[in-house]
Amino acid sequence: MSLRGKSVLLIIGGGIAAYKSLELVRRLRERGVRVRAILTRAGAEFVTALSVSSLTGEKTWQDLFSLTDEAEMGHIQLSRAADLLVVAPATADLMAKLAQGHASDLASTALLATDKPILLAPAMNVRMWNHAATQRNLARLTADGVISIGPNEGEMACGEFGPGRMAEPEEIVEAIETLLVRKATLAGRKALVTAGPTREPLDPVRYLANRSSGKQGYAIAAALAEAGADTTLVSGPVDLAPPPNVTLLKVETGCEMLDVCESVLPADVAVFAAAVADWRPESRADGKLKKRDGDAAPLIRLARNPDILATISRSKNRPALVIGFAAETENVVANGEEKRRRKGCDWIVANDVSAESGVMGGDSNRVHLISAAGVEDWPLMDKREVSRRLVERIGAALKRPAE
Ligand code: CTP
Repeated sequence: MSLRGKSVLLIIGGGIAAYKSLELVRRLRERGVRVRAILTRAGAEFVTALSVSSLTGEKTWQDLFSLTDEAEMGHIQLSRAADLLVVAPATADLMAKLAQGHASDLASTALLATDKPILLAPAMNVRMWNHAATQRNLARLTADGVISIGPNEGEMACGEFGPGRMAEPEEIVEAIETLLVRKATLAGRKALVTAGPTREPLDPVRYLANRSSGKQGYAIAAALAEAGADTTLVSGPVDLAPPPNVTLLKVETGCEMLDVCESVLPADVAVFAAAVADWRPESRADGKLKKRDGDAAPLIRLARNPDILATISRSKNRPALVIGFAAETENVVANGEEKRRRKGCDWIVANDVSAESGVMGGDSNRVHLISAAGVEDWPLMDKREVSRRLVERIGAALKRPAE
């Protein structure tokens, strides 16, 4: 797959490296990429809008509030129309704005308004790069799922030596290729994902449930679909938008979830991220249970729900790669490994869901990937970044027999 037909929104920040961004535009255009550019006020001190437009073949956007621009293409649409946003050079100031979520000019607003991947090519003085504030912003951005390339080490325009030089245009093109062409690694593969909580009814109006938000499972389904897999997401009740290009099958109970999952098989890979209720009320009243003065509170008898992960791991329709999650509050890795063996899956993504971790319902996750080959500890990352990494690993594993 090539970059032809892809669309990049390039944000050119204010730094001497801005001249290299012109070369970046040229190389992208050679590969058939549509490039639209935003030139920041500081960027315009180094290169002109005319040079940028001459190379992109498009208008260059500069102002946040321009009535004509808003009529032609609003800033939100500008960032949504692209497959990827590239910030080159990414100055310390642009990184700080993005890390803090500022929307004070067109560049920062476009970066905040997008749900597309963002690639930063930082360039700045070595001391600015090494400053605790810049490194803190970088760590924040990485946790948010922003990808960065460089800076490279070398002699700088200011005469100093060290990391700070913007990555070369060819390196940035390669990074863009990996990001956009990576999409096809699972083309032709079929994926099943479960997500969210289940609701186990007591009567037509009451149910037992849990606090799962479904965010991790939805992000995994989105990343699998982005990688080209034919993806079905079997989801309990959650308040999330369906991911693009994913077949969404909504269910309520754990028993329904198992039935629907079995009907989706065969698949090449299955990821069980749902927080399925372990128990359900043994019986479900047809009418609403009524209280009467003087009656004792009813006792609810519970029955075990089927274990979907264990059932499918041992079924004759078993996908080549079966991945489960383990939500643990202590001994995360040991309990995760025990769960992997007990449930018969290939990998367990174990995470700490203790109240202090903020994982349940939050946007970040610190996970351990446990397989027969050993344990990998991943740093704290945005749930979308955890998903992208997991999908990369799935792509690699499906090329060879499951580990
Ligand atoms: N799972 C499932 N069906 C169930 C219960 C769990 O498919 N009825 C899957 C989950 O989707 C997840 C893994 O099994 O992939 C989690 O297993 P579970 O035994 O529920 O572990 P925890 O939630 O980690 O809880 P516990 O420690 O209480 O067993």
